[in-house]
Amino acid sequence: MALRESGGIAPPDPGQELRREAFSRLDESDDRLFYAKDRFVDHLDTIALATVEQIIGDVITQTNPVILDLMAGWNSHIPDRLHPSRMVGLGLNENELRQNKALSEHLIHDLNRDPHLPFPAETFDAVINTVSIDYMTRPVEVFSAVADILKKRGLLLIIFSNRMFPQKAVKIWKESSEEERVLLVEGFFQQSGAFGETTVIVSRGKPRPKEDKYAFLGIPSDPVYAVYARRE
Ligand SMILES: C[S@@+](CC[C@H](N)C(=O)[O-])C[C@H]1O[C@@H](n2cnc3c(N)ncnc32)[C@H](O)[C@@H]1O
Repeated sequence: MALRESGGIAPPDPGQELRREAFSRLDESDDRLFYAKDRFVDHLDTIALATVEQIIGDVITQTNPVILDLMAGWNSHIPDRLHPSRMVGLGLNENELRQNKALSEHLIHDLNRDPHLPFPAETFDAVINTVSIDYMTRPVEVFSAVADILKKRGLLLIIFSNRMFPQKAVKIWKESSEEERVLLVEGFFQQSGAFGETTVIVSRGKPRPKEDKYAFLGIPSDPVYAVYARRE
């Protein structure tokens, strides 16, 4: 319970309790344990992955950009034409990061323990986060930290779909509709107070590849949503 400076007892903050609950997970154990297992898998079907690559290539317009892949695995979905001059991957699985061919360097860093990003100010042209925002327990702090290490007018690009590890996704993400998730991510940008207007890209209803393991369900390709904004 918080104590006021006057010595009185402050009333509990119901907002703080709600926020804690909203960003709780079924599995609250150390994230490094869950991600210690190598997962050399595709998190989306091949058509959705091609869409992700196209969005990254279209939205990042600098020549030879310096890019940070936040919550990176073995694949950063960087199109060949982008040619980053430096590409850093930050994540939790050493083997996956080491085998990620797009990266020029990588580091292990748990964002839920420490949302601060260990880079000098104005290092990156773009920071990307692909199919991982569902696992951030302190997103607004992370978005603020990203703004600090982006160059002026640098870009933060968040891409997500509707698949997830349910035990590690935060409660509010799991309980939101896909449309509400777009609003949630836009809210993270706004609450950080560090970014300009957000742009949203939605790709839904493409046919699922015939060879995909879920093709027998008759469902379309995994949806892809992107929300991005520039540092103000
Ligand atoms: C679904 S995978 C996505 C990997 C990759 N971004 C991609 O597009 O394939 C989720 C990734 O988030 C990373 N991750 C999860 N929790 C994290 C945390 N607390 N701090 C940093 N990275 C985390 C994991 O290492 C894992 O690679």
